[in-house]
Amino acid sequence: SSNQMWGGRFASGPAAIMEEINASIGFDKKLYAQDIRGSKAHATMLAHQGIISAEDKDKILHGLDTILSEIESGQFVFSRKLEDIHMNVEARLAELIGSAAGRLHTARSRNDQVALDFRLWVKEELQKTEAALSALIAAFLDRAEEHAETVMPGFTHLQTAQPVTFGHHCMAYVEMFGRDRQRVRHAIEHLDESPIGAAALAGTGYNIDRHMTAAALGFREPTRNSIDTVSDRDFALEFLSIASICATHLSRLAEEIVIWSTPQFGFIRLSDAFSTGSSIMPQKKNPDAAELVRAKTGRINGSLIALLTVMKGLPLAYSKDMQEDKEQVFDAAESLELAIAAMTGMVTDMTIRTDKMKAAAGSGYSTATDLADWLVREAGLPFRDAHHVTGNAVAMAEKKGCDLAELSLEELQGINAAITADVYNVLTVEASVASRKSFGGTAPSEVRKQIAWWRERN
Ligand code: ARG
Repeated sequence: SSNQMWGGRFASGPAAIMEEINASIGFDKKLYAQDIRGSKAHATMLAHQGIISAEDKDKILHGLDTILSEIESGQFVFSRKLEDIHMNVEARLAELIGSAAGRLHTARSRNDQVALDFRLWVKEELQKTEAALSALIAAFLDRAEEHAETVMPGFTHLQTAQPVTFGHHCMAYVEMFGRDRQRVRHAIEHLDESPIGAAALAGTGYNIDRHMTAAALGFREPTRNSIDTVSDRDFALEFLSIASICATHLSRLAEEIVIWSTPQFGFIRLSDAFSTGSSIMPQKKNPDAAELVRAKTGRINGSLIALLTVMKGLPLAYSKDMQEDKEQVFDAAESLELAIAAMTGMVTDMTIRTDKMKAAAGSGYSTATDLADWLVREAGLPFRDAHHVTGNAVAMAEKKGCDLAELSLEELQGINAAITADVYNVLTVEASVASRKSFGGTAPSEVRKQIAWWRERN
């Protein structure tokens, strides 16, 4: 049988394989609430403008409400023959209210309809992401405050570099997720224009009011160019880009959690709630949640590349290629939501092993820079000379198998005569972090300022 929506010029229906490749209802049914909201706003506007009668509008609104409850109660029967969510809803509307249903699609095309539905969906998802990131930031702020004085090794090249505080390290992630949240907010602003009324691509001859539908649907204003409106998937690409960058941050954190929770590092203990055991090795406690967060990043990045590749080279305006936008965004959104939530749980629950962190912070000659700085400040050496002298001290300590602070004053003076007993004050990890009071530095006093700054903004 030929299609009830465009059967006029078709003698036969689609091949089975055509139906299969063409249908999107399997995934775009997720857009049902947005589709119905959009249709109600459109029908209300059409009646307000005298394009359809008030009676027809009332029937349409009532029918759409019925469909919404049918879908939400699981009674609605989706049909692949009807391709997508838009036609499934409209066909059911015709069953429910008869010929008035046929007036809903006046001054509208599925091209602006799908652009509207998907934008509304992405906007809501961005709002959810913003809230989820705020929760993650809050979890980090609490841990940072608790551990503003906890000393741990800071790394470069994953080699011990200089002592830092765990609070400072936590605040580095607050900065990252704070930027992600800013990107989310900007994306919401960028997409806050209503596509409905662009029609197929050229606009419409009906006297519609696009400002009215924009306001009814919570958009700032209508889009300005009808061709761009139905061709544009920047809002989806932007969501995927933001998701990829955020997932990259989550993945770096996941990797640190994996490393920190090894017996070799032992910086943290994951809660039972966020780890798994081994079916063969009884001693094991595995950081599976962190590993999966790390892996979801690959999936999210894949979605970004997939949609960029779909969109590149598409001529204006709508092409069916664009139907491939939704699964990528839905999948990435689900993965990102899960990853942020799992990370929030892990960060909140993990035990910080301050003793282990502190012991590691003092190993690897992490205060060598402090010795060099002391030589510059107290003995007036140029930094490069001080660096050389300190290098000699490290070599001596390494040969003796001890820490810098365990070298005797005589030994140190043998390397440079200007060294006095005062130097031992800067060789502890506590003194090292406390001295780094430059703006944004790791000193507990600075970290507390950063925490206060973020508390006001979270
Ligand atoms: N299911 C389609 C999509 O997701 C809806 C738009 C169809 N428009 C069209 N002209 N065939 O993109």
